[in-house]
Order: sequence, then structure tokens, then C-alpha cells
Amino acid sequence: MSTQAGRFIAFEGGEGAGKSTQARLLAEALRSRGLAVVTTREPGGTPGAEAIRQLLLDPPGDAGWTAEAEALLFAAARADHVAHLIRPALARGEWVICDRFVDSSRAYQGAAGGLGDDAVLALHGFGSGGLRPDRVFLLEGDETVLAGRLAARGAISDAIEGRPASYHRAVAEAFRALGIADPAGIVRIDGVGAPEDVHAWIMGALADLLDPEGERR
Ligand code: TYD
Repeated sequence: MSTQAGRFIAFEGGEGAGKSTQARLLAEALRSRGLAVVTTREPGGTPGAEAIRQLLLDPPGDAGWTAEAEALLFAAARADHVAHLIRPALARGEWVICDRFVDSSRAYQGAAGGLGDDAVLALHGFGSGGLRPDRVFLLEGDETVLAGRLAARGAISDAIEGRPASYHRAVAEAFRALGIADPAGIVRIDGVGAPEDVHAWIMGALADLLDPEGERR
């Protein structure tokens, strides 16, 4: 087993962009190199956060959550996940691969939901010490292609997925802006290609984290 420090990788993007497939392919590739890998998702990943996930995706009652309550619930789920799963795994030297993280809150609640980036980052600072992934892969794709994939999946849409197209367009635009503002930390990828091609590209973009010695040679 490698003695290399653990790394935290997140996959972001709208629904249907292939995040879960790429998270799985990356985990397999890292494990085949002898690395210890934890795969997880948000909202969720721990019993407490999974319970909050139910409240978010299927809100009790008819009124739904206010934008503020929704952001607080995502931040609370993340605080539990970070404290009980992510930080301990990183401390053990494991790689953590997470399907969505705080940039989802920035795009959905902060931008599309209208709360603003500062409010979301403040909640993240309070709840999770502002933890950032070592690298974020933002899977992007043509809106109609992604919508077609979702329809083919036949998934029953949850409270957030079922929001109007204008909301999801605002999410995609916000993700794009986050990637443009931080191209080293949030790497944009066309997720519409063949999954193996996208995976190969991601492995290339992780070369510096996989072989930090090589970078210095
Ligand atoms: P999920 O079924 O995990 O969606 P997907 O398979 O597309 O990742 O449901 C998560 C939903 O919650 C999804 O619509 C995105 C939304 N979400 C937020 O609005 N804010 C967040 O911080 C996170 C993590 C997810």
C-alpha cells in the first residue's frame, strides 16, 4: 500500500453529466494502483447526512423548504459528512472521491437559488471549516444531450431535479463561472464523450497528484 497522503477529489455538474460513472471508474483505477479509496456522495455519505438527504429531496409537507433552510440543510449534511467520513479518511491517508461537494451548493443554492456565493461559503466555513477538494472535475455537456440521458434513465425527479429548465440553466452557468474563475482547482471537462475517453482524460489531469515526486523531478 502506498504511503502517499490522501487526496480529496470531487465530481460536479448537472444531472445526467456522468459524475457517478466517472467517480466509479476513477475509484477502480486508483484501487488497481494499490491506493485506498473511499467513494461517497452528497447530500449523504453518513447516516446523519443520508437522513438529511431524504428531507431535502422529498420535503415533508406541501410548502417546501425556504431557500435559506435548504442551504442550511445541505450545509448541515456536509458538516456531518466532513467530520465523520471525509476528514478521518484523509487523515488515514486514503483517497476520497465524492459525487458532488460544496460547489454544488454554490451553483444550486448560491447562484440558481439566489442566496449568493458569500452566504454559501460562510455556511461552509462554519459547518466544515471551509474544506476544499484537492481537485474538482466539472462535467459539462450540451443541455439537450443531458436532458435526453435523464429521460432515458427514467428517473423519478426529486424536489430539486424537478425545478424548471431556467433553474438548471442557471446552475450550469454558475458551474461554468466557478470553473473559469479557478481553472486549476475546478477542471472543466466535456462529459458527453465516451466514458472511457473522459476517464483517460481525468487520469491525465490527475498526474501531478498521483505522482507528486515526478512533478519535482
Ligand atoms: P442526486 O440524486 O444525488 O443527484 P445527481 O445524481 O444528479 O447527483 O440528488 C442530489 C440533488 O441535490 C441534485 O439535484 C443536486 C442537488 N444538490 C444541491 O442542490 N446542493 C448541494 O449542495 C448538493 C450536494 C446537491
